[in-house]
Amino acid sequence: MTARQHGPARRVRIVRGGPVVVDGPIEIEHEGETIRCDRFQVALCLCGRSRIKPLCDASHRRVRRSTG
Ligand code: FES
Repeated sequence: MTARQHGPARRVRIVRGGPVVVDGPIEIEHEGETIRCDRFQVALCLCGRSRIKPLCDASHRRVRRSTG
């Protein structure tokens, strides 16, 4: 198969300090499960703070408090 037979390339955007945003719909293989996301765009957590991994819940936006 050629690249043309696969359709247009899927776009992936890496947000500095935030998620990877992927054009949907997509299927995600995570911890032995396959999750289907039918959204137009899907944000995947890179920071490790999300409570709904592998999806981003915007926890990366929380500012850490200074202890000093
Ligand atoms: S990248 Fe958004 S919560 Fe981790």
